[in-house]
This record gives sequence, C-alpha cells and structure tokens, in this order.
Amino acid sequence: MASNKKLLVLPGDGIGPEVMNEVRRIVDWMDKRRHVSFDMQDGLCGGAAIDAHGTPLTDETMADALAVDAVLFGSVGGPKWDDLPFAMKPERGLLRLRKEMDLFANLRPAIVFDALADASALKPELVAGLDIMILRELTGGIYFGEPRGIETLPSGERRGFNTQSYTESEIARVARVGFELAGKRQGRLTSVEKANVMESGVLWREVVQQIGDTEFPNIKLNHMYADNCAMQLVRAPKQFDVIVTDNLFGDILSDCAAMLTGSLGMLPSASLGAEDPTTGRRMALYEPVHGSAPDIAGQGKANPLAEVLSFAMLLRYSFDMGEDADMVEKAVANVLASGKRTGDIAAPGQQPISTSEMGAAILSELDKLAA
Ligand code: IPM
Ligand code: MG
Repeated sequence: MASNKKLLVLPGDGIGPEVMNEVRRIVDWMDKRRHVSFDMQDGLCGGAAIDAHGTPLTDETMADALAVDAVLFGSVGGPKWDDLPFAMKPERGLLRLRKEMDLFANLRPAIVFDALADASALKPELVAGLDIMILRELTGGIYFGEPRGIETLPSGERRGFNTQSYTESEIARVARVGFELAGKRQGRLTSVEKANVMESGVLWREVVQQIGDTEFPNIKLNHMYADNCAMQLVRAPKQFDVIVTDNLFGDILSDCAAMLTGSLGMLPSASLGAEDPTTGRRMALYEPVHGSAPDIAGQGKANPLAEVLSFAMLLRYSFDMGEDADMVEKAVANVLASGKRTGDIAAPGQQPISTSEMGAAILSELDKLAA
C-alpha cells in the first residue's frame, strides 16, 4: 500500500548508517505491528555523496528533501574528507539542507532517563529528573553571515573572518517558537546571548523581551549571557525549562547539555521550518546531536538511541503521532532501566552491548508495550 508519509533517509558517514539501521528495524516493526507505513527513500549526504558524486549534496537530493514530509539524517564527516577545500567539506551538505529548507528552529531536548543519572558527568542529584529544551536558531548568525573568508593582508599575513548577524525577524520567529514551547512545558524561557559585548546580542535581547511583553505575557522570561549559561548548565541545570539562543551558542551549549544526560549518544534533535499557512505543512529534518564518530565507526559500538529518539521526534512533530512517539521513548526508557548499555553509557567494568543488540532490545520492549 502506498504511504502518504514520505521520508528521505540520509544516513551519511561514520556511525550514521549503523545507527540508522536500528531505526529501519523500528520502521519495519511499525509497519507489521501498528500498520503504519512510511514511503522511505534513501539518499547520500556528506562524505558518501562526495565519494559518489563529487559534492556533499547533489541538487537532486536537495530537491528530494524539499519534496518529502520529513528528512531523517544520520551524521556527516570524517578524516577521509578533512583536507578538502572548505566549500566541499561533508558538513556543507548538512548546512545546505538547513539553509535551503529554512529550518530555523532546532529543538534539542536534554532529558535524563532515571536509569542514566549515574552515567552523567555530574552528581546524580544534580541531573536526576532533568528535562530541558535547548532551542537553537539554525539558519542565521555566524554560520551563514557575510562577509566571511580568509584573506591575505598587504603584509602577507592571512586573516580569517566571519560575521555574526541577526535581523529582527530572524530573532522574532525563533523567539516565538521558544515562547510556544515554554507554554507547553513549565512556562519559563531563558534567552541567551552576549549582549555585554555584541550588538547582535543587544538586538536579540530587545526583540525577545518585546515579543514576551506583547505576545506572551504569561511566560516567565529571563535573559542570560552565554558564558554564564554554560556555567549554570553544569552548576544547576534544573533551573532551566526552555533555553532559546543563537546558532553558535546553541551548538556549544547543546553539546554541554548532552553530557548532562550521560552521553552525546543520547541526544536527538528536530529542525523545523515555518508552518505553511495554507497547508499547515512544515519542513523538517531530524538528526542526532552527535557526529559521525569516525573512531568507532564500523565496529558495531555506536549508541543508536539518539537516532531512535530523533525518529520519535519525527513521529511527534511531523506526523502528530504522539502515541507512537511515546511508545518508542518508553521502550528506550525500559531498555535503559533493564541495565543494557552501549559502551558510551556503560558503568565501569560493565560489558557493553552492540549497536544491533541495543536495536533488538528496543524491538523486544516495543513488542511488550504493544502486547
Ligand atoms: C551540530 C553539528 C554541526 C553544527 C556540524 C556537523 C556542522 O556540530 O549539529 O551540532 O555545527 O551545527
Ligand atoms: Mg554541534
């Protein structure tokens, strides 16, 4: 039966294909057990696309991404492609997807599963029950600002430069998503910038405050400098509900928040565009926060949970399948509670399980939950 749920799957490089395989097993399970099917199409991105086509993302794959309901992404990059010219690097494929799909809102939830409170780098009492949402602006700021480049000065010395830039509308649209998310959670939003040293931060703070005052008076808004936020995240992370911040600070703070949950291998993300006012459709790409981890690629050691949880976010945000998303998340929680661990979250001395053993454990939990 043809499915009306079209997915483009871009496993990418390194551990990307391995962790994606475990999601494919869940998709098969959903097809058989829940009679929910997806129309899945595979594509290449990053180093894999460079090897096959000489570019990190072909125009055809870009067009496919714009046409489907959601893109499920693995990870890109690796030492094999490190020496390529900047515009040819694997990462440019992902950045092009984000920019051309206009995925300005990147949701990075950092949730500590009870069973993993001991795996965190912080004391268990600081992180037990932690549930925060980092909302990262994803299509602006220093990642895309112009001018940028490396120039040679008259002295012969080279100078590298990038531009941090935000317009009022770029700030406003991500701020609104932040307020809306906070409204569905504990009603608190922390806006993060460096207004003490950057003009773009001054404008960011002004615009967020103004939107809060005029459109979301019931949300409790506070402002924080990014360096203080990094410190507060490791000092007392439970003070946060939703954090909204720019592209670069969001990149850094979300890696930091990931370690609170035990491992970078645990954090999913959803990158969303604006809702089309007539169709209600939103461009969307789902990806784990972790990278391609070339050091462990191909060894069956990778933790597939961030990719699995990204798929759960896809069910929730792109297809409004909250019940199925809950079930996948519950299966992950149950597997962790049973003590099964991949190497990144294993206790000292514990024998870790492989990527596919973790996938199998999730399927058997799903079987129990669906019974
Ligand atoms: C992330 C990654 C990417 C980023 C890289 C792979 C381009 O670190 O999604 O956090 O810097 O945005
Ligand atoms: Mg990052």
